[in-house]
Amino acid sequence: MTDTRPIGVFDSGVGGLTVLREILRRTPDESTIYFGDNARAPYGVRPDEEVRAFSTESIDVLVERDVKAVVVACNTSTAIALGDLRRRYDLPILGVIRPGATSAALATRNRRVGVIGTPATIRSHAYFEAIKDENPAVEVYEHATPTFVPMVEAGLLAGAEVEASVREALAPLLGLRDASGEFVFPLPASARVDTLLLGCTHYPLLRDAIGAVAGEGIAIVDSAAATASALAELLSINGLQAPSGSASHTQLTTGDVDQFRSIAERMFGEAFPDVAGVELAGAA
Ligand code: DGL
Repeated sequence: MTDTRPIGVFDSGVGGLTVLREILRRTPDESTIYFGDNARAPYGVRPDEEVRAFSTESIDVLVERDVKAVVVACNTSTAIALGDLRRRYDLPILGVIRPGATSAALATRNRRVGVIGTPATIRSHAYFEAIKDENPAVEVYEHATPTFVPMVEAGLLAGAEVEASVREALAPLLGLRDASGEFVFPLPASARVDTLLLGCTHYPLLRDAIGAVAGEGIAIVDSAAATASALAELLSINGLQAPSGSASHTQLTTGDVDQFRSIAERMFGEAFPDVAGVELAGAA
């Protein structure tokens, strides 16, 4: 059995492209429709009710286009809305938190994992619970980094300014290092994490800066590859795989089309398909 309908991939903005990239690698025969609600990003500083409403409106756009499954490539939406979304729609819906939590629980050797995410994701404790569920012996240190998503949405992905912001944001979790990497305010060994989970799909776009600040000895983990594997399994179990050679890709944004295209091209190269703007009926 095969199914040529596309996979729907949703995020508040460009962050879900980090998940899309892994989906294209893992399941190259699948067609995709990506929807970024950039006009209303960031979601992570909004109240839960708003995150739920915006997520539903966004997924409606994908369902109207007859997708066969949806990947909620947004941790904030997964943390706040996944249960509601699964009740509402009659098609398979995957989130990013469970796959990321499993990867982090497998990666840590000292059983101390730091999780960074948006304020809404951290407030939900969804990662804390999912990691504890995988391995109750793992200590989970959660920390919100609200400055990261606006930086990425503005296309600021690297450079001295970005690194300085990342250093400041991560200091409470990782201890404070100066620009040469020396600790000026080390944490006690009992609070040191050996694994840093990027609990927001925008954050892999800041990976170089995060890696430079974290330094060696800290594994940086995200949800993208594990989510793509979970999707491949879901398609296989449900007999939803596409036949080979027919993949096509569409990207939609509620925001600025040129800004979206410029970030997508930095990630995928110029060959990636064109980006179209959409308006949501309920959008402010
Ligand atoms: N990529 C979204 C996430 O994974 C960003 C949320 C936001 O818009 O604040 O949480």
